Amino acid sequence: MPLREIADPLGPPPAGTITLDGDYVHRSLQPTRVLSAALARAARRPDAWDRAPTGGLTALRAVFARIVGGGVTPEDVLVTAGGESALSIAFRAIAGPGSPVLVESPTYPRALAAARAAGLRPVPVPLDADGVRPDMPADAFAMTGARLLYCQPTFQNPTGTVPAPERRRQVLDVAHASGAFVIKDDFARHLGHGGAVPRPLVVDDEDGTVVHVTSLTKPAAPSLRIGALVARGPVMERMRAVRVVDDFFVTRPLQETALEVLGSPSWDRHVRSLGAALRERRTVLADALAREAPDATLTGLPAGGLRLWVRLPPGVDDMVLAGAARQRGVAVGAGSRYFATEPPAGHLRIGFAATADLAELTEGVRRLGVALTDLGPGQE
Ligand SMILES: Cc1ncc(COP(=O)(O)O)c(C=O)c1O
Repeated sequence: MPLREIADPLGPPPAGTITLDGDYVHRSLQPTRVLSAALARAARRPDAWDRAPTGGLTALRAVFARIVGGGVTPEDVLVTAGGESALSIAFRAIAGPGSPVLVESPTYPRALAAARAAGLRPVPVPLDADGVRPDMPADAFAMTGARLLYCQPTFQNPTGTVPAPERRRQVLDVAHASGAFVIKDDFARHLGHGGAVPRPLVVDDEDGTVVHVTSLTKPAAPSLRIGALVARGPVMERMRAVRVVDDFFVTRPLQETALEVLGSPSWDRHVRSLGAALRERRTVLADALAREAPDATLTGLPAGGLRLWVRLPPGVDDMVLAGAARQRGVAVGAGSRYFATEPPAGHLRIGFAATADLAELTEGVRRLGVALTDLGPGQE
């Protein structure tokens, strides 16, 4: 099992550590009242404990299809136990053990882990501020024989990047011309900071090239482990088959709960207020970093998502700094974990969504700044 990507090399942070890391929003940002009411209503349904269709409740698939838009129908949707399960199913259904898979570099470590667990060989394709350069996957498809690209064109984890509109189309065209699939991880669709969120690639895909991954864990709560795969064409049959052998179907009470949550009049309001809160936190974090860690460089100010991606001054090792920060009571993500191979420079992934409030966020950055100053230059 690819432990490097799923286990934090520094171990669990001690009690009292401020978390500027993590993949979920703090409880104060979760719609806890909506979730509790939805769970109670779901549990009262007489059929709550019946088996569910293997593809997911039809009504829930219809809601996911509506959220994606375009001509997507409930038949194009497969309900999964969150995004991780969706990724694992998609990798195994699309490519056989030993096959290469192109991945953005940097990318989400647990996607690398899911690909490796499926026996695939991640091949990094560099990202710039406008996303993946289309000539890169074209060359990489040709050179490696890969028939699969994993990407996150909506507020990429860890960089927050959204590709320029022409890039999105070009990458899709390149994949199609190479006879490849694109797994498009749309985990951050509901994490926009208030601006426009580009429409899902699968809507513009007439050829069955795109497999779309979505999940409710980020905008709702980590234990609302409901996600979906959306795809057209024969690949859906293969993914359904993998789903059946994995664990047959997603537990029905949780699917009913998700249906209640998405149908609640408060859901849209929650997503809007979450976006506003994330935007404020992002700005506070960026300001605090400029003050407390002026030698670290923000690679951009993302318009969505949960974190900032920061380039470290030359000579500062990300693992050493993350360890030093941990000793000073703050957990940050060491950037090297986000690269499938050797990282080109030291980076940190610094989250702004997991702290209880803005004061804790600011204090966490102060502690990080002290760790960076104490380390000084050239500590390698
Ligand atoms: C890019 C990306 N994809 C997928 C996931 C999976 O999320 P979950 O399994 O909680 O739905 C995450 C979670 O951190 C993520 O960052």
